[in-house]
Amino acid sequence: MNNPYMPYPVRIDEIIIENEARDLKTFRLVFVDPEHEKVFNHIPGQFAEISVLGKGESPIGIASSPTEAGSLLFTIKRTGVVTDELHNAREGRVIGVRGPLGKAFPIERMKGKNVVIVGGGFAFTTLRALIQYLTHEENRSDYGDITVVYGARSPGELLYKAELAAWQARDDMTTHITVDKGDDDWTGYEGFVPAILDQVAPSSTDALMVLCGPPIMIKFTLPVIEKLGFAPADTILSLEMRMKCGIGKCGRCNIGSKYVCKDGPVFTLEELSDLPDEF
Ligand SMILES: Cc1cc2nc3c(=O)[nH]c(=O)nc-3n(C[C@H](O)[C@H](O)[C@H](O)COP(=O)(O)OP(=O)(O)OC[C@H]3O[C@@H](n4cnc5c(N)ncnc54)[C@H](O)[C@@H]3O)c2cc1C
Ligand code: FES
Repeated sequence: MNNPYMPYPVRIDEIIIENEARDLKTFRLVFVDPEHEKVFNHIPGQFAEISVLGKGESPIGIASSPTEAGSLLFTIKRTGVVTDELHNAREGRVIGVRGPLGKAFPIERMKGKNVVIVGGGFAFTTLRALIQYLTHEENRSDYGDITVVYGARSPGELLYKAELAAWQARDDMTTHITVDKGDDDWTGYEGFVPAILDQVAPSSTDALMVLCGPPIMIKFTLPVIEKLGFAPADTILSLEMRMKCGIGKCGRCNIGSKYVCKDGPVFTLEELSDLPDEF
């Protein structure tokens, strides 16, 4: 990227309504100039600034894996100015993508290890990218056991229902899906993510833990992770702070000496324990 503030034009190719509340949509974006796709080399865990002319830009985690070539996926909750405009957009509209930005999940360090992936709510987006990457046929043999624990408020609020079913059907990974409260058709787990993680108790031997979710979930999951024996250096989190530039220039996203946009959003628990308690 020559000018780090200059977005690439992308066309909204598909819009998928993800949840019953209809406030979460996944946008499939295609680069208007195929040359831009060649230089947009992202790794799971990174984010991009999505821009809408006249409205502004928002940092959004990249929900697709680099193994899913041809488009980028972003799952976006309707919250305010930029995200409202995106939710009102139609397929075919051209918007901007600036990135990829931030530090990714340590996919090289994960090689040869078991990986436990724990997510809750709509923070599951970059975990989707990670799972798709690790389980891709070209990568799967590089990694050990893969265990996923994912929870949402209700069955209708679960993201990526087709992928969840596909992961559950695979015999080379274990996927536990839970909802706070099920409905008449629900046959999976019922309960909060920390309780289900405690129940399924994945081994911490030769394993890395990746955790993304709302602060309340993180707060109650960290003691379970500690009880299971995952060291702070082997526990990886992704943070969502208010951001502006996304490239470590404006100073809007710092926690102590770290810029979440540039030094994160992915940190180990060990790195975070040296920082002020703001996350
Ligand atoms: C690294 C990173 C990854 C993210 N990934 C995703 C994602 O995958 N999907 C997604 O939907 N959102 C994601 N977010 C949050 C997203 O950036 C904000 O929701 C978005 O910028 C809101 O923009 P807006 O113009 O629509 O809202 P605004 O009009 O700016 O604000 C509306 C309301 O949302 C609050 N708000 C705005 N930004 C944030 C923020 N970053 N954190 C908490 N509250 C905020 C404001 O205080 C206000 O109350 C991510 C944020 C970061 C930093
Ligand atoms: S958002 Fe500008 S320094 Fe991080």
